[in-house]
Amino acid sequence: MTITEHEEIARATFRMVLKGQIATEVREPGQFVHIQVSEKFYLRRPVSIAEVKEDTVTLLYKVMGDGTEALTKKHVGDQVDVLGPAGNGFPLDVREGAHALLVGGGIGVPPLYQLAKQLRRQGVRVTAVLGFQSGAEAFFTKEFTELGDVRVATNDGTLGHQGLVTDVLDGEFDTYFACGPTGMLRAVSEKMEGVPGYLSMEERMGCGIGACLACVVPSNDEKGYRRICCDGPVFNAKEVVLS
Ligand SMILES: Cc1cc2nc3c(=O)[nH]c(=O)nc-3n(C[C@H](O)[C@H](O)[C@H](O)COP(=O)(O)OP(=O)(O)OC[C@H]3O[C@@H](n4cnc5c(N)ncnc54)[C@H](O)[C@@H]3O)c2cc1C
Ligand code: FES
Repeated sequence: MTITEHEEIARATFRMVLKGQIATEVREPGQFVHIQVSEKFYLRRPVSIAEVKEDTVTLLYKVMGDGTEALTKKHVGDQVDVLGPAGNGFPLDVREGAHALLVGGGIGVPPLYQLAKQLRRQGVRVTAVLGFQSGAEAFFTKEFTELGDVRVATNDGTLGHQGLVTDVLDGEFDTYFACGPTGMLRAVSEKMEGVPGYLSMEERMGCGIGACLACVVPSNDEKGYRRICCDGPVFNAKEVVLS
């Protein structure tokens, strides 16, 4: 794919727009792409698709280590080797007029943006609860506000509520969708007990093609596990065991 836009939008957080055929093959929000960040890295890095528009996808990524740091060195006009769209995304069978809760923590926020857009388009009321370490790291709060109610929580209280996303989940919801670290997903699913929900797990990945089992998460059935890279990253909240 070709990079058409690339900018820093919050502390160590970048927005990259990529143009190419893959964008036309995205089935559902919550799918991701596998990027070869540089020739020096054998393993590709998974990054969620935050937005799809005709033949472009937007990625929002945070610098976590050498791989994502290498991605920041790419320029508009550069070609990037991308595999995807990969994985199974969020189901969209939510009835018109229903109230959906979307909960994102840090780098778990990006896939919820395309989800919020699609839910709004089908007449679903959206409340987004977004968690960040601080106000300097917060991104896309304005974009989410254009789609529904937004509540922000930061660890240090520099934006919105000081504390955790689970502190601000009050309300009546017909369904929920969450993406973020496993601890956050566990806390959200406990708090939303009895409400149908879906969790996107972004924490671990190795080969990304179902072969290495680096990404397995325990499941509630006789099979005993699911692979995040190809069975997920989105799972029914009842399907997986969050340890
Ligand atoms: C399905 C999926 C979708 C993702 N979508 C996004 C996205 O939209 N935006 C985004 O910024 N990131 C996303 N990630 C996370 C991203 O892939 C990792 O942050 C990246 O691979 C780290 O590579 P690195 O070489 O920079 O860091 P590494 O050198 O591999 O790691 C540096 C540090 O970050 C930690 N780390 C590595 N991977 C993760 C992770 N997945 N979650 C939390 N901590 C991690 C490591 O434990 C280590 O402490 C996604 C991950 C998955 C599995
Ligand atoms: S990352 Fe290798 S099996 Fe999922």
